[in-house]
Amino acid sequence: MNIYLDNSATSWPKPITVIETITSYMTDFGASPGRSAHHFSVKAAKEVFETRELLASLFNTPSSDRVVFTANATQAINTALFGLLKKGDHVITSYMEHNSVVRPLRHLEQKGIIELSIIDCDKEGYINLEKLKNSFRSNTKLVVTIHGSNVTGTIQPIKQIGKICKSKNVLYMVDASQSAGIIPIDMQEDNIDILAFTGHKELYGPMGIGGLCIKNDIQIESLMHGGTGSRSESETHPHFYPDRLEAGTLNTAGIIGLKAGIQYILDQGMNNMLKKQLQLTDYFYCKLKETNDITIYGPTRNRERLPIISLNIKDKMPSDIAYTLDKEFGIMTRAGLHCSPLAHKTIGTFPHGTVRFSMSCFTTKEDIDYTIDKIKLIQ
Ligand SMILES: Cc1ncc(COP(=O)(O)O)c(C=O)c1O
Repeated sequence: MNIYLDNSATSWPKPITVIETITSYMTDFGASPGRSAHHFSVKAAKEVFETRELLASLFNTPSSDRVVFTANATQAINTALFGLLKKGDHVITSYMEHNSVVRPLRHLEQKGIIELSIIDCDKEGYINLEKLKNSFRSNTKLVVTIHGSNVTGTIQPIKQIGKICKSKNVLYMVDASQSAGIIPIDMQEDNIDILAFTGHKELYGPMGIGGLCIKNDIQIESLMHGGTGSRSESETHPHFYPDRLEAGTLNTAGIIGLKAGIQYILDQGMNNMLKKQLQLTDYFYCKLKETNDITIYGPTRNRERLPIISLNIKDKMPSDIAYTLDKEFGIMTRAGLHCSPLAHKTIGTFPHGTVRFSMSCFTTKEDIDYTIDKIKLIQ
């Protein structure tokens, strides 16, 4: 028996169309886009362009040439932070962030480049908006927050945060690694200036592809300089987007797979997919709530959330629970801190963390019934 409930780490299985499309590219026209003028290269470049257009439409990014591809969300976030922040800037972030935000910010702080404020969140993982409002300084350049928590499934009020940032004339960056593809995001409505995403989770693409969506007038300096296939006569890196932030050959197979993943979501309907997964999550939540000695973290029932259940069983270590679920019953989960130590400090589960069950559109009620049964057995 294989029950995969680790979709927040990476979604699996992938839609068959994702696999077929990548295979077709690798088999039928696997050339480098934007480099040569032959028809395979042009076809690959067309696929890359269409993927930018699809992402720009998904997130309502003002212009598709401001959709920049990176290897993952971590590279996207680092590209934005290191390329944007200058000595003396102040940055505000939250206690629910992933280490892919916290670590580059702490690094910049320790190097004496930025000042950093980290805002408290409540036990359900929601950012304290009053504290946020009171944390702005005259040198605040950027606010960075997670959208959907990989630990608790909490969805931050990004629209409210975006509004506050706009009123203060401060840039707002959102880490949408867990939410992109499942929760609607509108960069213009939500006042998001920079959006970081990863392709291999709820967007159902392969690993090794992610990116940044950037509002038109934001200039991020490139960390990498090199070949772009454009302005090759120049010895310096081009300034225009997307080439500005895309040095070197792109992960075209990844981009093409991501395009198929997004197309799958659009064909199914993002709202339908979310509704089905939340029904399952709610069922899981309610069944476990009946059980003594199990603590579920994050938003209480009926609050908006991602399809994630993070829990602990009294007197048991999360790592032991996850080990038994996998070894004895074939149920794959993730135990520990999920790269988010500050989030666990917030919900009171540091240093051992929780066991996280994360669903996808391929998770069935039978999977959840079986899992509930085995959790009760362990308890
Ligand atoms: C909230 C959040 N941010 C960032 C990341 C980093 O994503 P990636 O490993 O694809 O760079 C993750 C991955 O788990 C995440 O959950």
